[in-house]
Amino acid sequence: MRNTILAVFIIATVSFGVLTYFFLNGTTVSFLTISFFLTCIAIYDAFIQKKHSLLRAFPVVARLRWVFEEEREKIQQYFIEDDLSGTPINREKRSLVYQRAKTEIETVPFGTQHNVYAKGYEFIKHSLFPTDHHHIAGDRVVFGSDKCAQKYNASIINISAMSFGSLSKNAVMALNQGAKMGGFAHNTGEGGISSYHLQGGDLIFQVGTGYFGAGKTVDGKRVFDDEIFKQNAIRPEVKMIEIKFSQGAKPGHGGILPAKKNTEEIAKIRSVDPFTRVDSPPGHSAFSSFEGMISFLQKVRDLSGGKPVGIKFCVGNNEEIEEMIKAFAEANNYPDFIAVDGGEGGTGSAPIEFTNYVGTPLLEGLSFVNKTLLKYNLKDKIKIIASGKAIDAFDVVKFLALGADAIGMARSFMLSLGCIQARECNLDTCPVGVATQDEDLVEALVVEYKNVRVKNYHDKTIGAVKELVSAMGKNSIKEIKATDVFRRNKGGEITSLDKIYYSEEVLIS
Ligand SMILES: Cc1cc2nc3c(=O)[nH]c(=O)nc-3n(C[C@H](O)[C@H](O)[C@H](O)COP(=O)(O)O)c2cc1C
Ligand code: SF4
Repeated sequence: MRNTILAVFIIATVSFGVLTYFFLNGTTVSFLTISFFLTCIAIYDAFIQKKHSLLRAFPVVARLRWVFEEEREKIQQYFIEDDLSGTPINREKRSLVYQRAKTEIETVPFGTQHNVYAKGYEFIKHSLFPTDHHHIAGDRVVFGSDKCAQKYNASIINISAMSFGSLSKNAVMALNQGAKMGGFAHNTGEGGISSYHLQGGDLIFQVGTGYFGAGKTVDGKRVFDDEIFKQNAIRPEVKMIEIKFSQGAKPGHGGILPAKKNTEEIAKIRSVDPFTRVDSPPGHSAFSSFEGMISFLQKVRDLSGGKPVGIKFCVGNNEEIEEMIKAFAEANNYPDFIAVDGGEGGTGSAPIEFTNYVGTPLLEGLSFVNKTLLKYNLKDKIKIIASGKAIDAFDVVKFLALGADAIGMARSFMLSLGCIQARECNLDTCPVGVATQDEDLVEALVVEYKNVRVKNYHDKTIGAVKELVSAMGKNSIKEIKATDVFRRNKGGEITSLDKIYYSEEVLIS
């Protein structure tokens, strides 16, 4: 094949050479130049370069494959996917976020595109006597037990952890300003607190295993430091502290900051070397037992001046989680909240096996944590924040039904900033300036426009939750129960979520 391709280019070059000789004009010269250029590339591909077998066999032509491969995601999005396909977030849901963020029309014509008779179809049942959605209560939740001097009255929807590093400074500023405008909280992510987080919005200060903003490097190892932590934790913007054990996209691995995104500025905030890949350790060095964990949580609470302290994880080993909750009950000392992240959770960068095959999906993880808190009489003391692809109001209702008190959203807020799901967050080439440190690309995201969109998306989603609750004939979001949400099982019957997740007898598949 390569000889044929080479022959075609050579014949074309010779032919255009002859034509140029006899009829010299702009067109013949252009064709001669192009064919000569392609012939040179073909010779290089076929004989000189040795790395790519495909190019040696199909000189020049094989390059097209790379172009298509590179643009595959966009071609798929623009020309192939329908409203219900597209992963991880389908077009229908992405469009809804864009519409809510821009306060554009949110209605759809003609009827649902979902197959309501398919296995897995979910819905809520409405009442003959809907309430007035303008008067639905329960969109705030108070975090903090009697051990907290500074309780926090939070929205039921907040921005889940995403650090400056994974996101650009403009994205962080827009999120924080949006949170301020809408009266909800912005989780810093495990990268520490930067000036971009300090735009006036409420912060949940996340402390990961790398202790960025809460520790230092000693003998090459990241360790927690009381003073460094305290300086950040007592900031008035910080309303709660979250100690991260794992996130659903890479449980048991620890955070990854790709070298390209670890700029001088970010390295300074994290006190690490710039332009090196930064891997947070998989586990905490500050404690190694449940007793140690409980003392650490209390220390952190004290150092912060009595702010609510929580832990975040994706459920792994159920027995281990139960043992931990039992230890909380026995010590009568516990975190103020548990943030449960689902295996379907998002990330800026993760190893593929961890993303695809490690960690319990949210609905099972959430219901297990809820059941275990009920079993040890801690449900009214420890709040649950659930995260894992919550995009629309139905997702919110479903998670609340399974026991969540509040919802963390990461990717939907990225979409509200203009993320087009190009999925290049780990490459530093994010085309819309959300997940990159490239200065030119960051400039594409104009904070003054996007901050309002963040607020709009939050407010409109809360409004939509209220409308669903009023359709159910309830007066408060707090009245939502697992018996209110239904799913069609594999036999075609309809089962409520309480039977699926809270009764051992009913299995759906
Ligand atoms: C770009 C990006 C960065 C993230 N960074 C962190 C982080 O620093 N700490 C953390 O606990 N989770 C992190 N997460 C996970 C989210 O906080 C959240 O738990 C997960 O994406 C599920 O929420 P979602 O489905 O609404 O995106 C990150 C997610 C994304 C998309
Ligand atoms: S547009 Fe692509 S690269 Fe940018 S944040 Fe969204 S998914 Fe990541």
